Amino acid sequence: MSGAQARALPRRQVILDCDPGTDDALALWLALASPEIDLRLVTVVGGNVGLERTVANAAAVVGLARAVVPVVAGAGRPLRGHFAGDGRVHGDDGLAGVALPPGPPPMPAVAADAIRTLLRASPPGGMTLVGIGPATNLALALATEPELAGRLREIVLMGGAWGEGNWTPSAEFNAASDPEALDILLGLGVPVTLVTLDFTAQALVTPERVDAIRGLGGGACLRAACDIMAAVPPSRRLGGLGHPLHDACAVAWLVAPHLFQTRPASVQVDCGHGPARGRTHVDRWGRSGALPQVTLPETLDVAGFFTLLGQRLARLP
Ligand code: RIB
Ligand code: CA
Repeated sequence: MSGAQARALPRRQVILDCDPGTDDALALWLALASPEIDLRLVTVVGGNVGLERTVANAAAVVGLARAVVPVVAGAGRPLRGHFAGDGRVHGDDGLAGVALPPGPPPMPAVAADAIRTLLRASPPGGMTLVGIGPATNLALALATEPELAGRLREIVLMGGAWGEGNWTPSAEFNAASDPEALDILLGLGVPVTLVTLDFTAQALVTPERVDAIRGLGGGACLRAACDIMAAVPPSRRLGGLGHPLHDACAVAWLVAPHLFQTRPASVQVDCGHGPARGRTHVDRWGRSGALPQVTLPETLDVAGFFTLLGQRLARLP
């Protein structure tokens, strides 16, 4: 996508909530490098690793990009239960062992309050929420003041699956980590774009793709991004050929929607306490009779995605 094409998209005001997390780091850098996005606030939730670590990682990622964006800590546990990230994918430090220089200290605030403050100052339909971790902060911000939903243009979430889960056989990690929070967001009546595991499986990071991006030169962010992508173990679920760059797909939807083919779908979340807890029942064919409340990306222009990612990472310091 050329710079002119990029500038052709109207700039979006965005709040991004994350649990860095290796793919969260790539998603953050993509957002910070994209002129289509005016990143107003980064909020952080526990999930992949504990909240203290995810906050430090978010600050380090923003700091390495020399970006002036507030980072605010949020929930260290879901609405019910606890987070159970186990470091298998992201490592105990959350960035697959890639050490970044410490970033600036987070703002002394609470994520849900910071989100509400920004939404109150936003015109109707003026703000886009991107959630790439357990949805706890976003649900806390909106559940007690649902009228703020009117300030939202769209909620973009990485989460759920219409097929096999990656945390349990039934459920994807973000959805499984806080099903109640996801259910609240899906019930707000705000347009939701749900980027599922079935979609992100196409954005498969392979050694060849990392080498191609590393060859673009670039600064510390590109090098760190490649080191992180190279350090994440391949996904057994996807045949061991590489690992899916889940969260960057959610940001790419805002930056280059022409790379996506979508369909409307209705989605229900299983908030029970059985083996299907966190399962997203995705109805792509209108079989349930429920009204579609989700835009569901299905097909990705994979070459275009990795070209975009490399181009944008190369713009960072
Ligand atoms: O299931 C993938 C999601 O869970 C991604 O957001 C990844 O960072 C983890 O949080
Ligand atoms: Ca994440």
